[in-house]
Amino acid sequence: MTPPSGNALDNLLSESRTFPPSAEFAEQANAGTDLAERAAADREEFWAEQARRLSWSSEWDQVLDWSDAPFAKWFVGGTLNVAYNCVDRHVADGHGEQVAIHWEGEPGDSRTITYANLKDEVSKAANALASLGLVAGDRVAIYMPMVPEAIYSMLACARLGLTHSVVFAGFSSEALRSRIDDAEAKLVITTDGQFRRGKPAPLKPAVDEAVAQTPSIQNVLVVKRTDTDVEWTEGRDIWWHDLVDGQSNEHAPESFDAEHPLFILYTSGTTGKPKGILHTSGGYLTQAAYTHHYVFDHKAGEDVYWCTADIGWVTGHSYIVYGPLANRATQVVYEGTPNTPNEARHWEIVQKYKVSIYYTAPTLIRTFMKWGADIPAKHDLSSLRVLGSVGEPINPEAWMWYREHVGGNRCPIVDTWWQTETGAIMIAPLPGVTECKPGSAMGPLPGIGAKVVDELGEAVGKGGGGYLVLDQPWPAMLRGIWGDEQRFRDTYWARFEEQGFYFAGDGAKYDSDGAVWLLGRVDDVMNVSGHRISTTEVESALVSHAKVAEAAVVGATDPTTGQGIVAFVILRGGVEQGEGIVKELRDHVAKEIGPIAKPRQIMVVPELPKTRSGKIMRRLLRDVAENRQVGDVTTLADSTVMDLISSGLNKGS
Ligand code: WTA
Repeated sequence: MTPPSGNALDNLLSESRTFPPSAEFAEQANAGTDLAERAAADREEFWAEQARRLSWSSEWDQVLDWSDAPFAKWFVGGTLNVAYNCVDRHVADGHGEQVAIHWEGEPGDSRTITYANLKDEVSKAANALASLGLVAGDRVAIYMPMVPEAIYSMLACARLGLTHSVVFAGFSSEALRSRIDDAEAKLVITTDGQFRRGKPAPLKPAVDEAVAQTPSIQNVLVVKRTDTDVEWTEGRDIWWHDLVDGQSNEHAPESFDAEHPLFILYTSGTTGKPKGILHTSGGYLTQAAYTHHYVFDHKAGEDVYWCTADIGWVTGHSYIVYGPLANRATQVVYEGTPNTPNEARHWEIVQKYKVSIYYTAPTLIRTFMKWGADIPAKHDLSSLRVLGSVGEPINPEAWMWYREHVGGNRCPIVDTWWQTETGAIMIAPLPGVTECKPGSAMGPLPGIGAKVVDELGEAVGKGGGGYLVLDQPWPAMLRGIWGDEQRFRDTYWARFEEQGFYFAGDGAKYDSDGAVWLLGRVDDVMNVSGHRISTTEVESALVSHAKVAEAAVVGATDPTTGQGIVAFVILRGGVEQGEGIVKELRDHVAKEIGPIAKPRQIMVVPELPKTRSGKIMRRLLRDVAENRQVGDVTTLADSTVMDLISSGLNKGS
C-alpha cells in the first residue's frame, strides 16, 4: 500500500485561491467559532449536547464506553425510537402540515408528502411488517428505486427495530442474493420495475432469481411502480397496496436501546466479498443530525434541501433519510437520471421547488461541465445558498465551475469527506466559519479527531502527506462488520493497532496552512462515479467466466467518473479472441455485480506482470491504462512481460 503520488492530484497542492465566508452568511450561520471551542473543551459533553437534538425515551448514563475498543458504545443506557425522531415528533410539535418530501418521479409525476402524511404511511407500513410476523432484530432487505415507499420502508423498519439492508437497485440479482444470505434477511421489499432514462425496466425478476436461492426469505413485498407484468409466487409474494393500504395509520413506537442495530449496508473492500457495515441507533442519528444541521447550515421550515444520492448508498441513508428527517427538513427526492428528459432536469427541479441546499457528487458536476454552462444559466438558481460535494476528491476546476455556474459565486461549497463506515460527515468546512479552498475538505468537524500520519503512525506536519486516520471514536462509527469480527479488526484497526487509530484507507496531505486534501484510496478499492468497487470483486467476476483464465483490474484516471475500470484478461487456451469477447465479458460483469462495475475497457493480454511472490503489480498496469511510460519493473518475476503486454496492445488487440 503506497500513498498516491506523482499524479494530477499533486497539482491540487499548488491551489492557492481561498474563499472566506461572506459577512451576510456568517451573520445567519448555524455554526460559529464557539462550536470547535466547546468540542475541544469537553468532547463527551459536546456530543451529549448534540444528542439532545433528539428525543430520548430515557437518557443515557454514560456518553461513551470505549472499554471494549474497537467496539464502541455511545449513549449507554439511553433509549429512543429512530422513526419517532424522524417523523412523529415533528407532527407532535405542530409541524404536521410542513412538507417533508417533494417527490419528483422520472416520468414527470410528483407527490407532496407532509410530515403528517409521512407519519401515516410509516405507521401503516410498520403495521404491515409486524403483521408478517417480523420482530425487532430481524433483517429486511430493501431493493428499490427512489420511490417514497423506499423511505417509508426504511423508517418502518427503524420503527419496529428491524435492521434494514438496502441494496442498490442497480446491483445484480447475484449481488442481492449474497447480501440477503449474509444478513439472513426474512423479507425483501421491491418494486415491479423502475424508470431509468425514460423507460421502465423490470426489477422483480432479479428478486425472483435471487430469492430462489435464499432460504431465509419468507416474503417478497412488491410496490407497483411501472405496471410491468411480473411473475408471482403465491404465498410468498404480496403487493404493497394489498397489504399496506388497508392498515391502521396508528402505530405506537417502541423505544430501543441506543445501540440497537439500525442498518447494515454492504460496501466493497479489498477482497471479493462485500462487507456488511453495521450501524446502530442513538450515536448514528445524533451525528447524522448534527452534521446535517451545521455542515449544510440547515434551517427547518425555511430551507428546501436536495441530496441527489440514491438510498442504495450511505449518502442516501444519512443525508436523505435520517439526518434531514431528524432535523425536520423539507426536501426534494428525485427518482431518475439527471438527463431525463433532458440535461436541464436538475435545474428545472431547483427552480420548481426553490431548492436552497444542493448536495451532489463531483462526477455529476464534471458531467454538467461537459454538458455546458449554458444549461444551468437558462434557469433561475437564485434560491440556492449552500452547495455540497461528496464521494471522491473534487478537483479545483470542478469546484470553481460549481461555484460560478451553479452557486452564482455566492454559495459556500462544502466538500464533505466521510465513508459508509463513518456513518456521517467527518471532514468538511463549516459554512459561515471556514475559509474554503477549491478542492480541499479543509479539516475535521468539531468533535471529530482526524489526522494525517506516516507509515509509522506519526503525525505529519504542514506540507506533509500520508494516511488519513481517525484518532478518536465518534458517535456514528460502524459497530462492526456483520458476522465478521476478525475482518473488522483486520481491515480498520490492525494497520495502526499500537496507536488505536482507525485506518480509513485514504491518502491525504496537509497544505502549508494545515488544510486537509484527500488524495484517493491507498488500497485496491476503485472509486467510479463516487461508487466504491474493489478490483478483486471485478476480477472474481471476470474469472468466473468460462473463457477467462486470469484477470487483473485497475482504476485508471477518468475525466468524468474520477476513475474508470480497466481490465486485463488472459483467455483460456483455445478461446478465439474475436470482437465479441469484450462485450461478452463486460455483460458478464454487469450480470455478476451490476452495470456500474462494467469495465470501461478490457484488454486481452498474453501475460500479467507479477512479482516473484505472485502478486500482480497493478501499478504497472495502471501505467498502461493511463498511457504512461511504464514505471520500475525490477521487482517483476519476468521483466519482459511488460514489453509483451505493450507490444500486443500496440498491435491493437
Ligand atoms: C471517498 C461515501 C475525497 C474516499 C460517503 C472514501 C472522498 C470513500 C470524499 C468512501 C471527499 C468520499 N473527498 N474522497 N469529499 N468523500 N470520498 O463508503 O475514498 O461510498 O474512503 O462513502 O469515498 O465511499 P463510501
